[in-house]
Amino acid sequence: MHAYALRDPVWFAQHSKEQDKFASEGKELGQFCIMCHSPVAFLTGAIDNPFSFDISDTASLAPQVQEGVGCTFCHATTHVSPSTDANPLDGVTGAIQFFLNTDEVIYGSIKDPIPNSFHESEFHPDYDRSEMCRACHNLTIDGIDAEMTFDEWKGTAFEAMGIECQGCHMETYSGYAVDTVLFPLAPYRENLHRHSFVGLDHALTSFPETGAQATAITSLLKSAAEISFGTPFPNSVTPGENVELAVVVTNTSGHNLPTGTTFSRQIWLEVTVTTGADTIYKSGFLDSNGDLYDFYTDTDLVKDPDLTLFRTVLYDAVGDSGLRHVSVGRMVRKSDSTLPVQGSRTAKYSFPLPLETEGQIFIRVRLRFRAMPPFLIRELGLKEESNRLIVFDASELEATVPVDMLE
Ligand code: HEC
Ligand code: HEC
Ligand code: HEC
Ligand code: HEC
Repeated sequence: MHAYALRDPVWFAQHSKEQDKFASEGKELGQFCIMCHSPVAFLTGAIDNPFSFDISDTASLAPQVQEGVGCTFCHATTHVSPSTDANPLDGVTGAIQFFLNTDEVIYGSIKDPIPNSFHESEFHPDYDRSEMCRACHNLTIDGIDAEMTFDEWKGTAFEAMGIECQGCHMETYSGYAVDTVLFPLAPYRENLHRHSFVGLDHALTSFPETGAQATAITSLLKSAAEISFGTPFPNSVTPGENVELAVVVTNTSGHNLPTGTTFSRQIWLEVTVTTGADTIYKSGFLDSNGDLYDFYTDTDLVKDPDLTLFRTVLYDAVGDSGLRHVSVGRMVRKSDSTLPVQGSRTAKYSFPLPLETEGQIFIRVRLRFRAMPPFLIRELGLKEESNRLIVFDASELEATVPVDMLE
C-alpha cells in the first residue's frame, strides 16, 4: 500500500472532495493529504497546485513522488517527527516534520552492509523500532484523536515484549539482501524483512502482486482476533421461545481493531441460524449492492438492528455524521466501537424459534473484514473499483443445538 499511496483512485477522489469542502468554507487544505501519501512531494513542493491535483497529473512527476511512500524516503530518514498533531482550524496542516539525509547515504538495519557504487550504506539503530512508523501512523486533528495506531500500540504488552510494528508487518526471512549476480560476495543473512506492509486494505486498480497481497492479508487477519461463544448459550432450544446466544470477540492484534482509518473500515460479525433449508435468524448480511444494513444505507436500522460493527463514526459541528459528509479534517467528535489491544466485546442475540422447528438448529458465526463499504466507493464515482472490494473471513465458529420435543 505504500507504493500505491499516490496511485490510489480512492485517495484522489477523497482528496478532491476535501479540497473542495475546505475551499467552500474559505479555507485552504494545501498539502495536508500529500504530506503522508507522498512525503517527497510534500518536502520538495513538487505538486504546485494541490487544489486541482488529479491522478492524470502524476505521470509528469519524479518517480520518488509517484512512488508515494518509497524506498528512498524511508531509507533516508535520520530521525523521527516530534509532532503528529495537525491543526487545520488554525491553518496548521503541515504538522509532521520529516528529517532526511539527502546526500548519498542510505540507512537501514543491517549492521555490516557491504559497499556498493550506488550509495553509501549505514547502520541505523532506530529502523527496527515502531517510532519509524509513528509520523504517518499517528495523527491528531485539532487535538482530537484521528488515526492513532502508534499510541494504541504504545504501552501494550507487545511493546513490553519488544514486538514493534515491524514484528507483525515486516515478516523476517533468511536470504540475500541484494541480487547475488550483481554482488557475488553478498553474505547470506538471517534477519531480512518482507516489505509487503500488509494490513486490511488492498489495491482496487490493476497493480503488481494483487493476488499475493490478498493471500497475505488473509494470513495476517488470522492473527487479528479470536471469536468464541459466550454466555448465554443454549444447550437446547424450545419452539415458540426465544433463543439467546452470545459471541465474544477479542482483539489479538497489536493496536485497536480496526486501527488507522477506522471510519472507513468494516469489521463485523455475521451470525446465521438455520434449520434444514430455512433461515431462522441472521445478522451482518449484505444487501444486493454488497453493503451492510448500517445507518448509512438503512437510516432506521430496522433491517439489521443487531449488526455488530467495529469502527468509528465521525461527527461534524452540526452533528452531521459519517463518511459521506465528515472527514477527519472536519470532525469535532467521534463515536468509537473499535476494540483496544486484548479488549473483548460480547455481542448478544435473541430471536424467537418458530413453533414448527424440529430436530436441531445450526449456528454459524464469521468475523468478516472489509477495507471500505462499497457505497462509499460507488458514491465517489468509482463503480468498477467498488466491485473489486474483497470481504476477508478470518475466523469462524459453528454449533449444532438440539430442539426440545414439544408434548
Ligand atoms: C502483534 C502484531 C501487530 C503489531 C505489533 C502491529 N500490528 Fe498492525 N495489524 C496487525 C493485524 C493482525 C492487523 C489486521 C487487523 C486490522 O485490520 O486491524 C493489522 C492492521 C494494521 C493496519 C491496517 C489498518 C486496519 O486496522 O485496517 C495498519 C495501518 C497497521 N496495522 C499499522 C501498524 C503500525 C504502525 C504498528 C506499530 C505501531 C502496528 N501495526 C503494530 C498486527 C499488528
Ligand atoms: C515505510 C518505510 C519503508 C519503505 C517504503 C521501504 N523500507 Fe526498507 N526497511 C524499512 C525498515 C523499517 C527496515 C528495517 C526493518 C527491521 O529491521 O525491523 C527496512 C529494511 C530494509 C533493508 C535491510 C534488509 C532487510 O530486509 O531488513 C533493505 C535492503 C531495504 N529495506 C530495502 C528497501 C527497498 C529496496 C525499498 C523499496 C522497494 C524499501 N526498502 C522500502 C522501511 C522501509
Ligand atoms: C511517510 C508516511 C508513512 C510512513 C513513515 C509509514 N507509513 Fe505505512 N502507510 C502510509 C500511507 C499513506 C498508507 C496508505 C496508503 C494507501 O492506502 O493508499 C500506509 C499503509 C500502511 C499499511 C497498510 C494499511 C492497510 O490498511 O492495509 C501498513 C501495514 C503500514 N502502512 C505499515 C507501516 C509500518 C510498519 C511503518 C514503519 C516501518 C510505516 N507504515 C511507515 C504512510 C506511511
Ligand atoms: C498523518 C498522515 C496522513 C495524513 C495527513 C493523511 N493520511 Fe490518508 N492515510 C494515512 C495512513 C497511514 C493510511 C493507512 C492507514 C490504514 O490503513 O488504517 C491512510 C489511508 C488513506 C486512504 C486509504 C484507506 C481508506 O480506507 O480510506 C485514503 C483514501 C486516504 N488515506 C485519504 C486521505 C486524504 C483524503 C487525506 C487528507 C484529507 C489524508 N488521507 C491524509 C496517513 C495519512
